[in-house]
Amino acid sequence: MQDTNYKPGAMLTGKRALIVGAGSVGSGWGNGRAIVSVLRAEGAAVCGIDQNLSALQETERYVGAFEKIVCDVIDQHELENSVLAAQRHLGQIDILVNCVGGSVPGDILTLAPEAWLRQFELNVGYVFRILKLVLPVMIKRKSGSVINVGSIAGIRCLESNAVAYSAAKAALIQLGRSSAISVARQGVRINTVIPGLMNTPLVTERLMKNKDPSEAVKFIAERDSKVPIGKMGDAWDVAHAVSFLSSDRAKSITGTELVIDGGLTLRC
Ligand SMILES: NC(=O)c1ccc[n+]([C@@H]2O[C@H](COP(=O)([O-])OP(=O)(O)OC[C@H]3O[C@@H](n4cnc5c(N)ncnc54)[C@H](O)[C@@H]3O)[C@@H](O)[C@H]2O)c1
Repeated sequence: MQDTNYKPGAMLTGKRALIVGAGSVGSGWGNGRAIVSVLRAEGAAVCGIDQNLSALQETERYVGAFEKIVCDVIDQHELENSVLAAQRHLGQIDILVNCVGGSVPGDILTLAPEAWLRQFELNVGYVFRILKLVLPVMIKRKSGSVINVGSIAGIRCLESNAVAYSAAKAALIQLGRSSAISVARQGVRINTVIPGLMNTPLVTERLMKNKDPSEAVKFIAERDSKVPIGKMGDAWDVAHAVSFLSSDRAKSITGTELVIDGGLTLRC
């Protein structure tokens, strides 16, 4: 569903943005797809990375033409080539959004060590590695904004069945804080957005797979009711937060987090 109340401005005119995770697991608006849409609407030139070409193409169908780069962020060689390709295409990278992430089920007793390592690579390891590629260029120009996409799983234990995701998203926050200090004097800002329960294709297509439609309505209603404002957020909430933090309007904001959870973590 589109964000019909949104009137685009020119907050990011002249900026060039690299969005990592510019597709979505399903049809509709995942966080990365909505981020591409809003950053473009605010005037930024956008380049998008994703491992899934058809997900990138679907984003393009929704938002219009943008530079698409297929890359598995876990593969260092592919990541290096993709950042170079993005730099070539954009000329410079003013904004870097690290949105790739995802969870696998498993608690401390059941999760295999290999799955733990892969979850760390998928949720925080590649962010460390892409920062090492992009920050030196931003530092040279004394300007840049990085936004990492976390999760409330990194700050609260709503469920124990995603031990690696939870630990990796917690690490992502500290990676952002610690790196922000290192580059603060060089004009580069790093922040983390922290979505809570969101109504995105991840929920509608993956979590509700195998449920019949009546169960699905109940499932959404149950999730909505857990949120103090009475409704899950959506990908637009995340995209607008990213757009603000990446803009010069947030020029004094660095090393911090913006929680987008309708008040949910207040209750935990
Ligand atoms: N959707 C939610 O409810 C929710 C809640 C909290 C946090 N988040 C976070 O938001 C971010 C985006 O989530 P979403 O649900 O909107 O995304 P999604 O799962 O719909 O899409 C993720 C995209 O990342 C791509 N991707 C996955 N692994 C990749 C890899 N190794 N290399 C390159 N691309 C890869 C996928 O192809 C997909 O297009 C994630 O970091 C997630 O942890 C989501």
